[in-house]
Amino acid sequence: MLRYWTAGESHGKTLLALVDGFPAGLEIETDSIDLELRRRQGGYGRGGRQNIEKDRVEVMTGVWKNVTLGSPIALQVINKDYKLERLKDLERPRPGHGDLAGAVKYLGSIRGILERASARETAVRVAAGALAKQLLRVFGIEAFGYVAELGGVAIEPKPGTLEEQRALRDQSAIYSLNPDQDEPIKEMIDQCGKDGDTLGGILEIRVEGLPFGLGTHAQWDRKLDGRLAQAVMAVQAIKGVEIGLGFEAARRPGSQVHDAINYESEQQDNPTLGYQRPTNNAGGLEAGMTNGQPLVIRAAKKPISTLRKALDSINLDTKEPQRANYERSDVCAVSAASVILENVVAFEVATALVDKFGGDSIQEMRARWDLFHEMAKKR
Ligand SMILES: Cc1cc2nc3c(=O)[nH]c(=O)nc-3n(C[C@H](O)[C@H](O)[C@H](O)COP(=O)(O)O)c2cc1C
Repeated sequence: MLRYWTAGESHGKTLLALVDGFPAGLEIETDSIDLELRRRQGGYGRGGRQNIEKDRVEVMTGVWKNVTLGSPIALQVINKDYKLERLKDLERPRPGHGDLAGAVKYLGSIRGILERASARETAVRVAAGALAKQLLRVFGIEAFGYVAELGGVAIEPKPGTLEEQRALRDQSAIYSLNPDQDEPIKEMIDQCGKDGDTLGGILEIRVEGLPFGLGTHAQWDRKLDGRLAQAVMAVQAIKGVEIGLGFEAARRPGSQVHDAINYESEQQDNPTLGYQRPTNNAGGLEAGMTNGQPLVIRAAKKPISTLRKALDSINLDTKEPQRANYERSDVCAVSAASVILENVVAFEVATALVDKFGGDSIQEMRARWDLFHEMAKKR
């Protein structure tokens, strides 16, 4: 079973991810993990913290001569802005943060909650996901995330192949599929920052090259739709998850929702095994299993809760009404969230891949992948 945990505080010494159950025999590159970490730090609207940090991964365990051993892999990203011991507590909880609920639940400080609740922790979630992407790539599976909407403005994606769209996204300061729309969106973010306010948005994640049969219909906690929803929803500030048509499916009759099934034998060697779906409203998942179509997930990210124009709050020491505390903060982290989601989705897909094809070694996974595809073609 492939899984991971993280540890670390926003301004603590370090951030750690412990990846357990990663197959042996994969030659890993740290440069492509560092690239994802850099992308996570970017996107228009980030705060001053990103000028301090230069995130790089250190692979501490589980690898020998650059090749995975099948033993736990510890990934570290050091915080340059380590100052936890010097930081003061807050007394006025920020609405939308974990400050109030956490301080009450743990009978402790707000600082003790916000340091762990902070999305700084996602640096190592991204590192774990970027490692998982290297496993997916062996099987021709690619995860790709971008910003679909920001501050209520829909961004019309330019069409193209995955490679063309990746190039478009990487040209965009917003990480959208339409760099021509960057300027008005950047102006909107700037204006919002001047007003002391913040913005949210909608992210879309696609995974291409998936085989049939990742996930299962057989038990609720192994359904891939449920697992993906949890992984996505568990990212800070994500408030909604849709798969395929999502909520729109509820508004249409069945005939305009479900994807017809055709067959073309000359396509039987690709991941679809020849089963063609003229539409992909299911977003690549039926009954918790992949169906050979691309996975399509959308997620809603709320605006940042730390507002310079602070909302009403209560001083927890005096119980007097006061404005919430303000700490150095992003105005908009929607672009960064697209990177985080791309990587957490990649990790979840890799988990399902290991479940289906075995997790001891890459060689065994490849052999089982080939055997399954030979057998499935005859089904
Ligand atoms: C990439 C990213 C960056 C974030 N940066 C900030 C920030 O600078 N200030 C802030 O108050 N919240 C920020 N957040 C959101 C909070 O971490 C989050 O709202 C908070 O932990 C409460 O959790 P919840 O929104 O999931 O309920 C960020 C979220 C993401 C995904």
